[in-house]
Amino acid sequence: MGIANNISWHHTTVTKEDRHLLNGHKSCVLWFTGYSGAGKSTLANAVDEALYKQRCRSYVLDGDNIRHGLNSDLSFRVEDRKENIRRIGEVAKLLVDSGQIVSSAFISPFRDDRQIVREMFKPEEFIEIFLNCPIQVCEDRDPKGLYKKARKGAISDFTGISSPYEIPHNPEIIIETNNLTIEQSVNKIVSFLNGKKIL
Ligand code: PPS
Repeated sequence: MGIANNISWHHTTVTKEDRHLLNGHKSCVLWFTGYSGAGKSTLANAVDEALYKQRCRSYVLDGDNIRHGLNSDLSFRVEDRKENIRRIGEVAKLLVDSGQIVSSAFISPFRDDRQIVREMFKPEEFIEIFLNCPIQVCEDRDPKGLYKKARKGAISDFTGISSPYEIPHNPEIIIETNNLTIEQSVNKIVSFLNGKKIL
């Protein structure tokens, strides 16, 4: 429980269900998780673009971007990663309440932290997407040169090198980003959304 006292929850006049009717689709969070370089941002943006083209209300929350603003006070130590993910979960919840399909792209390396976010949502609203890509492939890709720096010891607590990544036990979707094209991956996610009657 937080430290705030004497506050009460105000229910909005226009409900999430009203917004679903207006939008013509349900809202949810697509929670992408995986190593740096696994393709989280690429895929989150590709899904967002596909949804936009279908006239859906959608939005991307991206690790690097959020750490420039809202979470610029947080490091990559375990406790700060936990707070990072908690805050993102709360933001994603607001966006889902606003009727949108949220693609969130955070390493979110710890199972417990992802579980805490999962529990903020109704079961059908939280879709965990594990980008299963071997660390060696991510390190070879090294799009930002961060693995190289981490190997030299210039970055501490680097996921996969000096900080752990706990793979999801029961993600709703698994995508092997080293075996599928972006288009195939997007299709797999959009098909899932259709199958669950979110779209
Ligand atoms: S976390 O673990 O969910 O809190 O991380 P996240 O907010 O997604 O931020 C990951 C991006 O930050 C850059 N970066 C690092 N990643 C991992 N470990 C360390 N120490 C680190 N330092 C900086 C990196 O660009 C990550 O982006 P992605 O898109 O994953 O490559």
